[in-house]
Amino acid sequence: MSINIAIDGPAGAGKSTIAKLVAKRLDYIYVDTGAMYRAMGLYFVRQGISSDDEASINEACEHADISIVYQGGEQQVLLNGENVTEHLRTEKAGNMASAVSGYGKVREKLVELQKKLAASENVVMDGRDIGTVVLPNADLKIYLTASVETRAKRRFLELTDKGIPCNIKEIEKDIEERDYRDMHRENSPLKQAEDAVFLDSSFMGIEEVADAIINRLKERTAGR
Ligand code: DC
Repeated sequence: MSINIAIDGPAGAGKSTIAKLVAKRLDYIYVDTGAMYRAMGLYFVRQGISSDDEASINEACEHADISIVYQGGEQQVLLNGENVTEHLRTEKAGNMASAVSGYGKVREKLVELQKKLAASENVVMDGRDIGTVVLPNADLKIYLTASVETRAKRRFLELTDKGIPCNIKEIEKDIEERDYRDMHRENSPLKQAEDAVFLDSSFMGIEEVADAIINRLKERTAGR
């Protein structure tokens, strides 16, 4: 039986950094489910479909084949056979992903793929609904968060580091709006699973959070 770790939490809490590190230390596979939603988003952008047009999105879902491969330990997302990994972090793909991730058809398709991956491999999977919907029987569930101020500061430093001008108050407002959307949508909203361990990374270093997760997993899987 494969071992599954589910990490959920709001945007900017450090999920992907932590999940990648934990996967590396345990020699598990890291599955970035946000990248799958972004690949679907990219497909709809390329097709010129509006995010409000649910009927067309549902129809287009049938023609978007998403699959995952690993190159040098890094997840690559294929969209109808094309490696689109480099195109997923754009504003356009992210906004479309956020707008269509509430549609049942989009979620159904990706959740099925995510469940299949976790059934055959030891995984650290991050997203919004992993502990609640995708892997309800995960060996360990983590709800990773940080204060809005901390998340905004991290994003501000990341952008200024890249030479992109930005305003911290605007970033805070964006984060609050996105949290609200993710937590209040009808379909699989972001929420802490009842049996998830709550971790606030506001005042914790990356290694410290990874250690906390690995120690919990050891307790849970002792004797297996
Ligand atoms: O984590 P991210 O920013 O790459 O995710 C992009 C969007 O996809 C995000 O706005 C919410 C959605 N998403 C989701 O609904 N469920 C997941 N398991 C992962 C992401």
